[in-house]
Amino acid sequence: MLDGRRILLVISGGIAAYKSLELIRRLRESGADVRCLLTRNAENFVTPLSVQTLSGNRVHADTFSLTDEHEIGHITLARDCDMVVVAPCTANLLAKMATGLADDLASTALLVTDKPILVAPAMNFRMWGHPATQANLATVKARGAAVIGPNAGPLAEGESGVGRMAEPAEIAAAIEGRLAAGPLKGLRALVTSGPTYEAIDPVRFIGNRSSGKQGHALAAALARLGAEVTLISGPVALADPAGVTTVHVETAREMLGAALARLPVDVAVCAAAVADWTVSNASKEKRKKQPGGPPPVIELAPNPDILATLSERGSARPQLVVGFAAETETVVEHAKAKLARKGCDWIVANDVSPAVGTFGGDFNAVHLISQAGVEDWPRCSKADVAERLAWRIADALTGGHP
Ligand code: CTP
Repeated sequence: MLDGRRILLVISGGIAAYKSLELIRRLRESGADVRCLLTRNAENFVTPLSVQTLSGNRVHADTFSLTDEHEIGHITLARDCDMVVVAPCTANLLAKMATGLADDLASTALLVTDKPILVAPAMNFRMWGHPATQANLATVKARGAAVIGPNAGPLAEGESGVGRMAEPAEIAAAIEGRLAAGPLKGLRALVTSGPTYEAIDPVRFIGNRSSGKQGHALAAALARLGAEVTLISGPVALADPAGVTTVHVETAREMLGAALARLPVDVAVCAAAVADWTVSNASKEKRKKQPGGPPPVIELAPNPDILATLSERGSARPQLVVGFAAETETVVEHAKAKLARKGCDWIVANDVSPAVGTFGGDFNAVHLISQAGVEDWPRCSKADVAERLAWRIADALTGGHP
């Protein structure tokens, strides 16, 4: 039930917009307070009057209204709710979300909201299958939006394929599932993500190609399931995920210190690509070239292993400790050895050979390795890997089977 929960429903311009009327009815029956925002094109498919009548709230249309803006500004509209639902979401609006365009009320609200977003795409099957749409979808998911559908079946143009908006009952169930108290409510999670940088001098460092996409997506997924999440992030070009406490660090030692400071936690996931070595002869001043002289010698010393440290911490050990293994060959064998060596409960092993494109890319093909055996997961987006892993963590913590 959605008693008193506030949903902002963004309706964009597709034939499936008529189904949004049924969605509004169902959400209201469930006790939700539904506010609707129509794009200019949506008004060609459903009238503001029918949306207003069904929702029982004034409709926010794209035509700029001074009264609207005075009484409830677009920022309030996008934030004063528990969830933003985009149904139907056209290819065009999905592209705007992915690129951060804000040229109308709907796209502006989606850019400014700090609430969970659920997207129900609806479009022609060729538009859905186009690499541009799929890339936009991966981007939007990686930033934490949940996606429902589209389903396969006959489409409006007389063709058939994947592109039909999910049914109102399915969308309503997804909203209820996400707004219900999450399975990880009351539990604390720690996630490390991104690379670490080890200074050579004030301007140079040793780093690696980790983007942080997988760790950040996992932190967002755990938060969506209700966990109190701390994300310890190395230097990345990603926004802090919504609903997560993010601590920014640079070096492996800083990452370890930040992790230990958050204990106790129920689950720790080490997704960061931590530098194995630090520069023991780092210079306080910028190293200068000596004309005709030898190149500088960089001396390395081992960094602490955060995953191994968290795995062994006596009574403060998290109930579940999960590591990642970045391998380029004999992925599963190396990962099994790593599981034993580091003392963690699970290893998520991924192939980071350049040909696979895991580092920096949006997709991942992983194996989940535990004492129970090896599971090969199908190649899917990092957001989907995160969602699946978050649910596995929830099952393990609440079912007691790490
Ligand atoms: N890890 C860590 N602290 C380190 C090194 C690694 O917490 N100093 C964690 C990573 O976050 C990851 C796991 O250990 O969860 C494995 O990291 P990876 O770099 O794949 O393996 P290494 O332990 O560095 O082993 P190798 O370099 O031999 O592959």
